[in-house]
Amino acid sequence: MFAAYAARISPEDPLSALEVGELAAPETPADWVTVEVRASALNHHDLWSLRGVGLGEDALPMVLGCDAAGVYDGRRVLVHSVIGEGEDETLDPRRTLLSEKWPGTLADTVRVPARNVIDLPDSISFTDAACLPTAWLTAYRMLTTRGRLPKGGSVLVQGAGGGVATAAVVLAHALGARVYATSRSAEKRAQIEALGAVALESGARLPERVDVVVETVGKATLDHSIKCTAPGGRIVVSGATSGHLATVDLRRVFFLQQEILGSTMGTRDELAALLDLVATAGIRPVIDSVRPFVEVRGAFEALASGEVFGKLVLEH
Ligand SMILES: NC(=O)c1ccc[n+]([C@@H]2O[C@H](COP(=O)([O-])OP(=O)(O)OC[C@H]3O[C@@H](n4cnc5c(N)ncnc54)[C@H](OP(=O)(O)O)[C@@H]3O)[C@@H](O)[C@H]2O)c1
Repeated sequence: MFAAYAARISPEDPLSALEVGELAAPETPADWVTVEVRASALNHHDLWSLRGVGLGEDALPMVLGCDAAGVYDGRRVLVHSVIGEGEDETLDPRRTLLSEKWPGTLADTVRVPARNVIDLPDSISFTDAACLPTAWLTAYRMLTTRGRLPKGGSVLVQGAGGGVATAAVVLAHALGARVYATSRSAEKRAQIEALGAVALESGARLPERVDVVVETVGKATLDHSIKCTAPGGRIVVSGATSGHLATVDLRRVFFLQQEILGSTMGTRDELAALLDLVATAGIRPVIDSVRPFVEVRGAFEALASGEVFGKLVLEH
């Protein structure tokens, strides 16, 4: 099959570890189902994999990708990327994401357990759907299950250009929140305002302290996130693009009874609820660009440059 895969690991130069071309279909459990991929999308996770974060030499070559929508058994479906068991599969200590243990979505076909396919409403295109399973699902769980966003509440989203961040702004707005978003780039601040957020420079003072912070930048913004959180508010962390060893002012955490919460991906039920919200609220994912799958390397280069706003989608 034609695939984009990690042929080696390169912590310093992840793009040098990427190969695009024919690869023999890897082994997967016999009772899994095969989805013909029609659209896939990239995530920062794919770059982490090429750097060897969460992916070992012994698993190579590994087909990359966590996001896909396609066709299974004549049905239009969305692929849930978390492979795990239990009521909340994200808490299964043995859970994996596609492309960590089992081949990912950047290929002609992807194989998953039958419970990991969800029927896709006709109103949502493959291109839009392919944006949802990782970044959008992560943002949804951060705001709802983990962040417990109150009705009429307020949200700060750090690093406005990323896939999770743009999703969080659109979803928080659709859920009725007042939304603030920071970015180092004036261009991204203008773009995020158009999605319904009040845009601020990174580190700027907010007009109010917020109920929930969506934190994926990590070291560079965590202190600001803590300063911007209201008494009893929640800082929900799902990523650390700028560094994972950060300093926390514990005085604020205990005096203001703040909660710092981790969050990772989401459950199949949360993905189905997100799909419903997208269909009924009429919102659509923010897409930076759509390319034919053969041009996947260019999409990786754009992701690595950090100059993207929203999702990088590939049509198969
Ligand atoms: N736990 C999970 O389930 C999960 C799921 C999805 C993603 N993630 C993680 O979440 C993070 C975000 O991923 P993503 O794909 O949405 O986007 P991304 O491409 O990592 O987003 C980058 C954003 O981070 C900001 N940023 C990067 N370096 C920075 C720095 N040194 N200082 C300040 N801001 C910086 C940039 O904001 P500006 O340029 O706008 O300032 C940029 O828009 C990644 O680390 C990813 O691995 C985790």
